Amino acid sequence: MKILVTGGTGYIGSHTVVELQGAGYEVVIIDNLSNSNREVLDSIAKITGKYPLFEEIDLRNQKDTFRVINKHQDIEGVIHFAALKAVGESVDKPLEYYQNNLFSLINLLGSMRKNSIRNFVFSSSCTVYGQPDKLPVSEQAPLKKAESPYGNTKKISEDIIEDTVNTGIMKAISLRYFNPIGAHPSTLIGELPIGVPNNLVPYITQTAIGIRDFLKVFGNDYSTPDGTPIRDYIHVTDLAKAHVVAVNRLLKDQFKKDYEIFNLGTGKGYTVLEVIKSFEKVSGTKLNYTIVERRPGDIEKVWSDTIFANKELGWKAEKGIDDMMLSAWNWELALKKSKENK
Ligand code: NAD
Ligand code: WQD
Repeated sequence: MKILVTGGTGYIGSHTVVELQGAGYEVVIIDNLSNSNREVLDSIAKITGKYPLFEEIDLRNQKDTFRVINKHQDIEGVIHFAALKAVGESVDKPLEYYQNNLFSLINLLGSMRKNSIRNFVFSSSCTVYGQPDKLPVSEQAPLKKAESPYGNTKKISEDIIEDTVNTGIMKAISLRYFNPIGAHPSTLIGELPIGVPNNLVPYITQTAIGIRDFLKVFGNDYSTPDGTPIRDYIHVTDLAKAHVVAVNRLLKDQFKKDYEIFNLGTGKGYTVLEVIKSFEKVSGTKLNYTIVERRPGDIEKVWSDTIFANKELGWKAEKGIDDMMLSAWNWELALKKSKENK
């Protein structure tokens, strides 16, 4: 069975391609390489023994999207990762974000309709909850006004998908990820932040390895046990496996509703200082950090209610925070080694 993975050379996409190929699926990737590179295909092949098919096109281009999907007549399902994802950048470039994330989605859904492809899995985000009133946050929680144009593209995308499903042409699952971190145990694939990382964990590992001088901890006056914000970090391989489960659920007609939404988190929250402590423990490295002002737009605390995903998908995140931090560190060490060998 052939699955189309958009954004398949990206961070979460590449880990998912590995899991899909491991589960026996044939994979076609569409990516414009705006935030990833072609060598990821070699790494996927090294891990799985097989190259995925690859189409370098931009999903904003309707003609190319139609042409490529039409060419692969036997696609059974689509997992849509391709998007721009930098929250801060989206505030400065809202139109680019709406254009990239929404035009891509619309072109993709239109091409699926034309080719009668009926199964769709979408990368959504816990950002749609904003600061929830109740924790842990369940899929039923009301969505808050988005904090950023990026977050708004996820809310609007979910609505577009629901409206499309309501026309009866397809079934879909939206997966709301919490904070994905870590890398594949092979250290052949992982996150490749371009420039200065926005996210906590790549900033920690880059500081520890000497690329950055020190980590700024954004605020310690939140209402949490140590004053720093709480997030639900999830290992990227756990996340990737959930996509295989979601695809199987659609293909094997195990879904309960034509459009379903699941949280993908561990259900456990960690403060920034707890994440640092875990990193220091598993890496044996002291981290240079300093407390600074809050980062505008940051919420105080969020972690996932995992009951629905655990029960309905039969999926559970397995890796704990120490595993995640060790895997992120091993990835940073591998990146350093590969740079030195170039
Ligand atoms: P990523 O940037 O590593 O991967 C996205 C891929 O999509 C990249 O390879 C990029 O080149 C490609 N792409 C972007 N626009 C494209 C276009 N118009 N046409 C073709 N390809 C295009 O990001 P990621 O972290 O792997 O995220 C994957 C998805 O998960 C995104 O939709 C993101 O919004 C969502 N998500 C990510 C996180 C996170 O923290 N990483 C959290 C929640 C949700
Ligand atoms: C985590 C914590 C920071 C960097 C973002 C997106 C969200 C989703 C996941 C896509 C926060 C603190 C961070 C640093 C710090 N992505 N921090 N110093 O903001 O929870 O979520 O990625 O959908 O939409 O907003 O993740 O890793 O940036 O921050 O103190 O240099 O680490 O304040 O408390 P965030 P993050």
